[in-house]
Amino acid sequence: MSTREPRRAVCPGSFDPVTNGHLDIFARASRIYDEVIVAVLVNESKSGLFTHTERIEMISEVTKGLDNVRVASFQGLLVDFCRDEHVDVVVKGLRAVTDFDYELKMAQMNYGLSGLETLFMPTNPLYSFVSSSLIKDVAKWGGDVSAHVPEVVSKRLAARVAELHPRPTGD
Ligand code: PNS
Repeated sequence: MSTREPRRAVCPGSFDPVTNGHLDIFARASRIYDEVIVAVLVNESKSGLFTHTERIEMISEVTKGLDNVRVASFQGLLVDFCRDEHVDVVVKGLRAVTDFDYELKMAQMNYGLSGLETLFMPTNPLYSFVSSSLIKDVAKWGGDVSAHVPEVVSKRLAARVAELHPRPTGD
């Protein structure tokens, strides 16, 4: 009987916050690889709408039905994280050609640094315009983003926006 090493993929990102587009990529990657690690970048120089812990909590919640997906943090180079975690490949969603330019450079740099491969997955057209930054902008002004993010994210966004921009009471 032949045995082989489990094939691990990583989906890295900031995920501030995770969207339905990200979730679609995690689910599709989980059907191709034995294990998928969603790796959340710890970026101390850039503060987001959500803390690192909050992002991890939301991703853990929305991926709990995907048995072979786990969430982790990383700091420093992605190639170092992948070496330590025995990850073979990075899986990235591509929404449009504008993503390609940015993603291609990172993929080529990562390959040059350690031979780490990148697989680009075309985003489901349902989510091709969805980005974390657009979601935050719409939510900030009271727009409805519930079709584009999981329910837990939608609720946390509404709560965070209410904290940061309390509406006048009219008193
Ligand atoms: O969601 P984002 O911000 O587009 O994700 C970018 C991310 C986290 C994948 C990228 O910035 C990254 O891998 N950062 C870790 C540092 C690193 O390895 N930099 C060189 C990449 S070529």
